[in-house]
Amino acid sequence: MTTTDTSRSLPLPPGSFGWPIIGETISFLRDRDFNQKRQKKYGSVYRSHIFGQPTVMLSGSEANRFLFTHDNSYFAATWPYSTRTLLGSLSLATQSGTLHQQRRRLMAQAFVPKALAGYLPRMEKITHQYLAKWEEWGEMTWYPQLRNYTFDIASILLIGTETGSETAALSQIFQTWTEGLFSIPLNLPWSRFGKAMRCRQLLLDKIEEIVRRRQQENTPRNDALGLLLEARDEEGNGLTLEELKDQVLLLLFAGHETVTSSLASLCLLLAQHPEAIAKLREEQQQVGCSDSLTMDLFKQMTYLEQVVKEVLRKVPPVGGGFRRVVNSCEFNDYRIPEGWMILYQINQTHQDEAVYPHPEEFDPDRFGADRAEDKQKPFSFVPFGGGVRECLGKAFALLVMRVFATHLVRNYRWELLPDQDLELVTVPTPHPRDGLRVRFRRRD
Ligand code: HEM
Repeated sequence: MTTTDTSRSLPLPPGSFGWPIIGETISFLRDRDFNQKRQKKYGSVYRSHIFGQPTVMLSGSEANRFLFTHDNSYFAATWPYSTRTLLGSLSLATQSGTLHQQRRRLMAQAFVPKALAGYLPRMEKITHQYLAKWEEWGEMTWYPQLRNYTFDIASILLIGTETGSETAALSQIFQTWTEGLFSIPLNLPWSRFGKAMRCRQLLLDKIEEIVRRRQQENTPRNDALGLLLEARDEEGNGLTLEELKDQVLLLLFAGHETVTSSLASLCLLLAQHPEAIAKLREEQQQVGCSDSLTMDLFKQMTYLEQVVKEVLRKVPPVGGGFRRVVNSCEFNDYRIPEGWMILYQINQTHQDEAVYPHPEEFDPDRFGADRAEDKQKPFSFVPFGGGVRECLGKAFALLVMRVFATHLVRNYRWELLPDQDLELVTVPTPHPRDGLRVRFRRRD
């Protein structure tokens, strides 16, 4: 698995480049079974042509290990043009090498255990407010509500916005911006990408307002924006306003869209598996239902941990990740040429029958200590990616999921309303087509 002279004579992975220029982009975006079909035909390493680039698709624990241990030597960060442009060139997700590592170290401080414990009381407060509001409504389409909830959490805790109108307005603009992330990059007034580009500017203007307001404050705050504002390089220079805006945009996006998807899947899968809800409630009784949650209390909730993992295995909010090949290399006796793109596939990795028997079943017990299916092979459970680019907000995301699930199962009941389409739309992140319509009540 190295770059050698012999690798030049190795064949390219099997597959098809599809149509000239557009390649297989349209079926990649529209066909839910795109990967499954091709994997069946070609195996776990195959080639395609998406977003204007020849691309090698990789899946499975071995492939993940190969990718994650060679980031920065064979591979560098990249995203399709639409994503890259909408995120901005100064965003952590598009930075590589030393600059990436330096920025990552800095931003990671907002997610260390002490910082997380500090977020917990406000996270619980926001959770209670939303749950009480939903109880009052009785019936609702949950997915857009979950998005407002996670957006409040991300923006209030990470960048210190006020609740209410400020976050609601931002959240709306975000939705249109997000819809353009994986789109054909035609910058026209009516196209998805064009609309998203206009929203990027609106978001950046709003973020600039927030940043300038924070720069006027005398006492520094210990949230993610506070750390970015305080950061200095060796020469004592702070981040430019342009970089601050791109980094905040990334945190807000990464911090809410993926979590919304994970919570929607949690609510849906639990509604379909009342036996899992019963076990969660039993566990809550065992640990003792104290009013305020603590990080220590979560350590005792092992079944909750299993449920969260199974939700992320079954419906990973991020289906995969892109890389650019900066040095030709070989994998599984195939040549991977410089200049191509790689897409590692989380979704397909989690469907590997050799690791997860009956992968289509929702079975939290597969993560119990006696089965621990994910521990058999490294990198077979990768909802947060791995290596030097592993999700920066992993601990934050897991905390939101735990806080939300705990208060939800302790105090509420919810049922799926009839006549709705629960099929998952996968772009930009998986969610039920009709938005998850439920009846929501307090438990007796
Ligand atoms: C369940 C929720 C989440 C999932 C499944 C998830 C998943 C991922 C994945 C798979 C990656 C790696 C992509 C790659 O390999 O290129 C990633 C990167 C990232 N995530 Fe998350 N994420 C979640 C929540 C969050 C949250 C809450 C935040 C921030 C508050 C966050 C911030 C980031 C950032 C900044 C990166 C880029 C890291 C880098 O390039 O060094 N994520 N996430």
